[in-house]
Amino acid sequence: MTAIPLGVPRRLVEFTIDGKEARVPEGSTVLDACRAAGKDIPTLCHGDTLTPKNACRVCVVEVEGSRTLVPACSRKAEPGMTVHTDTERARHSRKVVLELLASSVDLSTTPQVAGWIKEYEAKPDRFGPEAARLNEAPKIDNDLYVRDYDKCILCYKCVDACGDQWQNTFAISVAGRGFDARIAVEHDAPLTDSACVYCGNCIEVCPTGALSFKSEFDMRAAGTWDESQQTETTTVCAYCGVGCNLTLHVQDNEIVKVTSPHDNPVTHGNLCIKGRFGYQHVQNRG
Ligand code: SF4
Ligand code: SF4
Ligand code: FES
Repeated sequence: MTAIPLGVPRRLVEFTIDGKEARVPEGSTVLDACRAAGKDIPTLCHGDTLTPKNACRVCVVEVEGSRTLVPACSRKAEPGMTVHTDTERARHSRKVVLELLASSVDLSTTPQVAGWIKEYEAKPDRFGPEAARLNEAPKIDNDLYVRDYDKCILCYKCVDACGDQWQNTFAISVAGRGFDARIAVEHDAPLTDSACVYCGNCIEVCPTGALSFKSEFDMRAAGTWDESQQTETTTVCAYCGVGCNLTLHVQDNEIVKVTSPHDNPVTHGNLCIKGRFGYQHVQNRG
């Protein structure tokens, strides 16, 4: 009989969130506990497959005894902690973060953000039309994906996915300082002259659509991108024996993009160029 290895049982941590008792496995974050309790804490730089970067601070909560607000996405739950998620101080901080981001970055393709802006009564317009923006045209230098840094919130998720957390290609990094800081490949070259291997793992983690499939970019520009008309089917990649899971997004009987389930214990949402982009032969029905 084959022995099935079981995960090491984890101790439960007990604490309170908004006056109610919470119990989560040791090692869970405050965000994990809040989500388990059904609370909608906004997040942008948090990635379920990446180590927290604490870059955006839109997820802050109040913890009794802590002088500063605490990022829920990275703070581990501790026994006896008293967490308040909806205080005036936390709400005000989230509001200002949303205002600063939305006044300087195009968040039109960031899921959920419009709802948060409404909920927190954020007014990005109050900084006036002169608020600093990148004002840069999308970089379209290959047939697979587009980089539109007007939509970039500098969350570093793409850098971490391309670097030591997953892909180990290190094709992209942060260049410049202060307002000039931006994500770039070495020497700000076109992607085609860089170390990029077109795995698309950076697109998978980008929270704003700054990195997008060329297929999606073109359809959005043509006004034909319609997620309500898309189906998602998860299947097994046929290119090699690893057996990665592919989720095919299909609209009008055509594959429009390929993602991969983040909860897969082998690939964690990552793919190679063939699995991510090599689907045209499926559609060649002529
Ligand atoms: S496609 Fe892959 S190799 Fe290229 S920049 Fe993105 S993560 Fe790095
Ligand atoms: S391109 Fe996307 S993933 Fe990369 S830093 Fe900008 S917003 Fe984050
Ligand atoms: S989501 Fe927690 S700091 Fe960005």
